[in-house]
Amino acid sequence: MGRTALRDGLALFGLAFLAFAVWWFAAHAVTRGLGAVSGDAEAQGRFAGNGGLGPLGLYLHMIFGGIISLLALLQWAGPVRRRWPLVHRLSGRLVAGVAALTAVGGLTYIALEGTIGGPQMSAGFTLYGVLMLVAAVQAPRLAMAGGYTRHRRWAVRLIVLCLASWLYRVHYGVFYAIQCPDDAAACVPWSTPEFSGLFDLIQNWAFYLPYLILAEIWLRLTPNDPRKDR
Ligand code: HEM
Repeated sequence: MGRTALRDGLALFGLAFLAFAVWWFAAHAVTRGLGAVSGDAEAQGRFAGNGGLGPLGLYLHMIFGGIISLLALLQWAGPVRRRWPLVHRLSGRLVAGVAALTAVGGLTYIALEGTIGGPQMSAGFTLYGVLMLVAAVQAPRLAMAGGYTRHRRWAVRLIVLCLASWLYRVHYGVFYAIQCPDDAAACVPWSTPEFSGLFDLIQNWAFYLPYLILAEIWLRLTPNDPRKDR
């Protein structure tokens, strides 16, 4: 087996494993969003409020968000990109478009309803949504303009942001499993039902900012091919 085939095989195996890990969250988000849109009170939960545009935006963002959590992995797959560039281009437009809708839905809810954690949580999630929106515009725009190097940078940022909501739940899962495996009340005051504990406050930013910084470091360490820039 050649080195390229081995590298492609390992990359696809890694992404398939990640897809398996993300699957439960994507399925939860899409199922809850669909239930909420169709009027299921349990799926709507505390988000229903007095109804209107805010909750509707949030329900739709769950459906769109679940889709991009998985689709972003397909965009990441180098072998797919090299062997089927048309698939990459079409699914890239889809990911970017759906990511933009996800961000708009989440931002609408924050603007109209706020968040359970108050101003600090709203600030962290607003920056998250704005960054996702910018990346969703920049990645396809630069690809169409032929700026491969800058397209790659924005595409990597977009993929990180698409996976960040899943990482948010993974952080909580690990924290609760270590800190209070038998009784969630034992996690207070680190994490409270009002999302006001120290862990909650850190989480408002920690599910995307550190990963974006790591991505920037990785982008600077890995060479670009300037010949691909038109
Ligand atoms: C990767 C995409 C995303 C997915 C899959 C996703 C999924 C979800 C889900 C399922 C919920 C309901 C809570 C739960 O059942 O866990 C939720 C809540 C929320 N999401 Fe997202 N989301 C995504 C991206 C975003 C973005 C980009 C923003 C920011 C604009 C955002 C803002 C919010 C807010 C504000 C809440 C409610 C917070 C509260 O409890 O008050 N989400 N999200």
